[in-house]
Amino acid sequence: MFLLNKNIVLGVTGGIAAYKSAELIRRLKDQGANVRVVMTTGGKAFITPLTLQAVSGNPVSDSLLDPEAEAAMGHIELAKWADLVLIAPATANTIAKIAAGMADNLLTTICLATAAPIAIAPAMNQQMWHAHATQANMQLINAMGIAVWGPGAGEQACGDVGFGRMIEPDELVQHCCDFFSQPTQSLSGQQWVITAGPTREAIDPVRYISNHSSGKMGFAIAAAASKAGADVTIIAGPVNLTTPDGCSRVDVQSAEQMHQQALSLAADATVFVACAAVADYRVADIKDQKIKKSADAMSIELIKNPDIVADVAKLSGKPFTVGFAAETQDVEHYAKGKLAKKNLDMIAANNVATQGQGFNSDDNALTLYWSNGSIDLPLTSKKELATQLVVNINERMNDDSRS
Ligand code: PMT
Repeated sequence: MFLLNKNIVLGVTGGIAAYKSAELIRRLKDQGANVRVVMTTGGKAFITPLTLQAVSGNPVSDSLLDPEAEAAMGHIELAKWADLVLIAPATANTIAKIAAGMADNLLTTICLATAAPIAIAPAMNQQMWHAHATQANMQLINAMGIAVWGPGAGEQACGDVGFGRMIEPDELVQHCCDFFSQPTQSLSGQQWVITAGPTREAIDPVRYISNHSSGKMGFAIAAAASKAGADVTIIAGPVNLTTPDGCSRVDVQSAEQMHQQALSLAADATVFVACAAVADYRVADIKDQKIKKSADAMSIELIKNPDIVADVAKLSGKPFTVGFAAETQDVEHYAKGKLAKKNLDMIAANNVATQGQGFNSDDNALTLYWSNGSIDLPLTSKKELATQLVVNINERMNDDSRS
């Protein structure tokens, strides 16, 4: 009964996945939650309010302008009642409205009026999910700190295959349980800024230089720090990951863009973690048009990118600054060199030549070095490793402030 007495406003919008709402409500209630359903007009086209009323055991709300409903449980009451507003399925249309701050139906109005956290489970055709407008809206949604659960990939109702399926009710319930079972807020009041993923250095409008970073390690650190109560912002290179619950996110492409965002956000941060695999060099002369094939060989001049973590460590009133070292040989030697040269408070070294860890794997192993100590964090999931790293950063920071 992880959700015992938790009040969940479930928003049901107009997607085929709305037929799963009855199952979702049943499972939320199995975990002890109180569920009140708010439907959009589109949602009611896919499943009847009567069904969801019967399953939830509560009247279903669907109109902002219904005097009777407003008198009983109006939008402000529902907004205040909620411990969590979960929108599942969340259509592209509703996501766009929330991103724009619109309040043109009961559900979007509740989203504006509530102080409770909001989570959405996107559900739409894969092409709609990848559309520029939807992705731009998702960036706003992420920046608003709204949790995004899914979407999953697979065959869609329309026959297409790809990202856009609503994740299953049991996965959504698991997200709710995780959300409400966060540990003691030991990092409460701390601002963490974390870089994650690769950068892309353009060659011409269609080509770029990059690397194999998936962002999994950086996003796991963000999730662990947020779960422990920190206020977390991720500066993400191009990755295909959803933002961890409660984190804010700024998306960038190039090292220069990451540098600019990092320096601005790190100025007010308690902790800065540089987990991104930043390109050391960028193309000197980015072509406006696609380069045509001609000679048998060609060369591209590269120039050095700014060193983001080193520049953060130069800030006056700098945050506790943690770098990573991705090495394929002499790991300790190179990691300690970077710790000193970049004036870091700690460096997390990983051997990226070892199979089953490092770039784009689900597991990793780290050795943490600081000025007068070190600790091995053996191979485990990036999720578990991130929790251990966050604990160690916090301990080191407390030790430093005492000494
Ligand atoms: O993203 P995943 O697939 O989960 O993989 C995780 C990871 C292997 C990318 C991660 O664990 C890791 O090692 N990240 C650092 C990668 C890297 O660029 O390491 P480096 O040794 O080249 O750089 C040293 C440090 O300087 C890093 O903290 C890096 O973020 C930083 N740096 C580098 C260049 C630059 N221009 N600016 C920087 O801030």
